[in-house]
Amino acid sequence: MTRSFACGAGAAGVDWQQRADVVVIGTGVAGLAAALAAHRKGSRTVILSKAPDTATFYAQGGIAVVLPHTDDSVEAHVRDTLAAGAGLCDPDAVRSIVADGYRAVADLVDDGARFDESAPGQWALTREGGHSRRRIIHAGGDATGAEVQRALDHAAATLDIRRNHVALQILSDGTAVSGVLVRNADGLGIVHAPSVILATGGLGHLYRATTNPEGSTGDGIALALWAGVGVTDIEFVQFHPTMLFDRTATGRRPLITEALRGEGAVLRDARGESMTTHHPMGDLAPRDVVAAAIQARLRASGDECVFLDARSIDRFAQRFPTVTAACRAAGIDPTRQLIPVVPGAHYSCGGVATDVSGRTELPGLFAAGEVARTGMHGANRLASNSLLEGLVVGGRAGRAAVEHSRDAGAPVAKADERQHNALDRTVLQTAMSEFASVVRDAAGLRQLADILAEATPTRMTTRAAAEDVALTATARAVTTAALARTESRGCHHRGDHPDTDPEQAFSRTLHDDHAAACLQ
Ligand code: SIN
Repeated sequence: MTRSFACGAGAAGVDWQQRADVVVIGTGVAGLAAALAAHRKGSRTVILSKAPDTATFYAQGGIAVVLPHTDDSVEAHVRDTLAAGAGLCDPDAVRSIVADGYRAVADLVDDGARFDESAPGQWALTREGGHSRRRIIHAGGDATGAEVQRALDHAAATLDIRRNHVALQILSDGTAVSGVLVRNADGLGIVHAPSVILATGGLGHLYRATTNPEGSTGDGIALALWAGVGVTDIEFVQFHPTMLFDRTATGRRPLITEALRGEGAVLRDARGESMTTHHPMGDLAPRDVVAAAIQARLRASGDECVFLDARSIDRFAQRFPTVTAACRAAGIDPTRQLIPVVPGAHYSCGGVATDVSGRTELPGLFAAGEVARTGMHGANRLASNSLLEGLVVGGRAGRAAVEHSRDAGAPVAKADERQHNALDRTVLQTAMSEFASVVRDAAGLRQLADILAEATPTRMTTRAAAEDVALTATARAVTTAALARTESRGCHHRGDHPDTDPEQAFSRTLHDDHAAACLQ
């Protein structure tokens, strides 16, 4: 059991304290996979959650996984992943994660997940951009993430999940983790623990509109940077080609899953013309290619959106109930009308630098899922590889964290509430959307850097303030990395450097001081 005791804002400078072996921050696929693995190895595991929604819940397409006894192979999946990643994947990491996928999915099935079947006992497989085969399992048609979340929530129902707890600081002496500084309704607290796993998801709310839930504010990136841990490939923000268009909408917007194109939907501009004829895979090219093609067409035509024509898909409402509901809510009947779409901020391909078990450079700090950069995604994530990575690396991180805790003993953390700078969220989102979106250039990124430099010291006394601080730190890292990469590669497109430069086929790791120095 976890001990929890009030101590007053006295010597420790906090209102409450707890002790655990492993703390997991986040309750999406990676967080709960990690927490379940740690719990099942007998560790006292505390899970911190700031928001009810996870990105996992909203995932539509599915899980890319190589099934045994099919014409698919680990090597084919690795090849597709490396091709999408545009030279920046770590092939060993990709192979390790892909090869472990079927086992991890089988464990999820043991925990109660159910996937759609094409015949009794045979999973239905779909295709998405960049995949050379049908290898994507799905659930509830296009509600895969909801099923994954349901199964994990159920399996984790008896675990110690602390809702409305905002992590503010990873506590360490610079050589090892000792806990987490947290704010909840009772005030400021410390969870003392030798192992902390960041599973905080992505950073979509750096932008005005995103497919991500409201909690995707770059928290884990900021926590890692402040703890002295590097983030890698952070310039590679993936824009999903097809987010439902609405001229005025901001915040989380519905995704129109890529699986529609896998089932025959086509992309057309307002004149009925394709924009992906230059690529052999056409509308099923990797999503950086499709998003860039849409963006180029919008720029050239002055149109506000392009269209997805999904009218040829049979039994549309049964196969795609989530997309059907989103379209109907917007007054669109996708079986009779075209769906207006634009590229939308969707996924951070880079993140906290880890190995394939989630270990960071700071002993005791782990990261898994979207917040982490294992080397799986390189410069552009292959569709439906994210739930796969979250499951595999989440579980591994949970087990590695338990081992670390056993070796490290029980640390006593000291409160360390630091102040950081924050920019007004609307100002930040507007600037990021204008200058660090699908296409960037040096002049715009410099302007963005100047705007970010106007951030002012802010105390993290509320969840919103903590998120603003995290968004600002993350925006700074993205801007620094995007300025440094003077080429176009994967989902990082530079208008002033449109070609890929073979000399820049390397990943860049930033630390907090580096990000700050580069923007001065
Ligand atoms: C989609 O369903 O198109 C999104 C899947 C993903 O992001 O991998």
